[in-house]
Amino acid sequence: MTATARKTTIVVVGGGHRGFGYAGYTLRHPEEGQVVAVCELRDDRRQEFAKTYGVPAEGCFRDWRELVALPKLADAAFICTVEDQHRDAAIALADKGYHILLEKPMAPTAQACRDIVAATRRNGVILAVCHVLRYVDYIRRMKTMLDSGLIGRIRHIAATELVGPWHFTHSFVRGNFRNEAQASSFLLAKCCHDMDLLAWLVPSPCARVSSFGRLSHFKRECQPAGAADRCTACPARIESACPYSALKIYLRDRLERLKLWPVSMVTADATPAGVARALEEGPYGRCVYACDNDVADHQVVNLEFEDGTTAGFITTAFAVGSRDYFVMGDKGSLRLNDDGLHHYDFRTGKNVAMPLHTGDTSTSLTGHGGGDDGLIRDFLAALRSGDKAFVTTGPEASLASHLIVFAAEKARRNGTVETVSRCEA
Ligand SMILES: NC(=O)c1ccc[n+]([C@@H]2O[C@H](COP(=O)([O-])OP(=O)(O)OC[C@H]3O[C@@H](n4cnc5c(N)ncnc54)[C@H](O)[C@@H]3O)[C@@H](O)[C@H]2O)c1
Repeated sequence: MTATARKTTIVVVGGGHRGFGYAGYTLRHPEEGQVVAVCELRDDRRQEFAKTYGVPAEGCFRDWRELVALPKLADAAFICTVEDQHRDAAIALADKGYHILLEKPMAPTAQACRDIVAATRRNGVILAVCHVLRYVDYIRRMKTMLDSGLIGRIRHIAATELVGPWHFTHSFVRGNFRNEAQASSFLLAKCCHDMDLLAWLVPSPCARVSSFGRLSHFKRECQPAGAADRCTACPARIESACPYSALKIYLRDRLERLKLWPVSMVTADATPAGVARALEEGPYGRCVYACDNDVADHQVVNLEFEDGTTAGFITTAFAVGSRDYFVMGDKGSLRLNDDGLHHYDFRTGKNVAMPLHTGDTSTSLTGHGGGDDGLIRDFLAALRSGDKAFVTTGPEASLASHLIVFAAEKARRNGTVETVSRCEA
């Protein structure tokens, strides 16, 4: 698919980690898009954003509500705040006529997701939800192979997402996504990507789900005797033996990478002294057993699709690895993991391994493997051409996969098997 050239003007709502990263596409591809405004509550972030992307003073706003009080000033809005802001911002911006790129999760509740879909429909604007994995080159290849019938009809998918100890504690114990009331469930925050991928790979709607999982480890009763509630104050013999120590994660293991995520989330002062200070005072220096976290640290979800296909999904803090998708068909299997794509043909008995080849970004599924850029590229192409087909994560598809997450969470809480709602908004 190609799109004719016209530069898209963009406003970024939330100039944090994700908003800053997506905007980077416009520096690499200035002929496709230009950021003309930013809404960011934090002064330091807003200033850094404006400097990096050349946003003029009249394009700098604190809150997105200031922007929507003005006449429309760009073609598109990238909404990259955390999810509690998504519904109101998306509706207000769609009502103003902005095309919308919306970070996942769409919103914390099914009703809020439906409201967003309704607003984009009634305004006739394009909505792309940031399920970036669908825009990764090798995942697209996998989807094409499955659709071509390479392994026959899909009968089962075994999928894992091993978040790992440091990433889990950074985001889901000490960080932004630790607490359901303040953000959302672990499944929604992290694995709406996986529910979306499963829903995309299987050519039949998801019908029923069950799920188990809980917060088992990162809580007070698992704190070693004598440990302090902050790593900088912890006795050396306990701190040095702790795999989750903030001193280990943010300083000892990443001394060379202080400017990069996740340390960039801890402080803007990317020096050892600056990070040490932030660990003494800020949330990322807290003992993992003494935080206000409540999200699950491991979870399984079972899915049954209308055509009888099943899927089993595991996610956990307690293993290091990558996403692994093992798709089993009636003529063979196709497996995607960090080592590549592996096709096994039942008839010939042959196993063919294919490299991922992800260009210059990352060969790992854990690093979105080029999906972030692929998403922005295709979203801008959809806007230039008016062809929504560039966007594979539009309103209906994204709502459908979010509804799987909400049903799975209901099943986990209630110990039930839940029917997945249909996605009519
Ligand atoms: N697609 C992915 O793979 C992926 C990966 C990581 C995070 N995320 C999602 O991205 C979202 C943002 O995460 P993040 O890590 O960038 O968070 P972040 O905290 O770094 O950035 C969010 C920014 O929004 C700003 N903000 C909040 N309310 C605002 C308002 N009313 N007006 C203007 N600015 C406002 C905050 O000041 C903050 O700087 C989350 O929903 C998260 O789940 C998606």
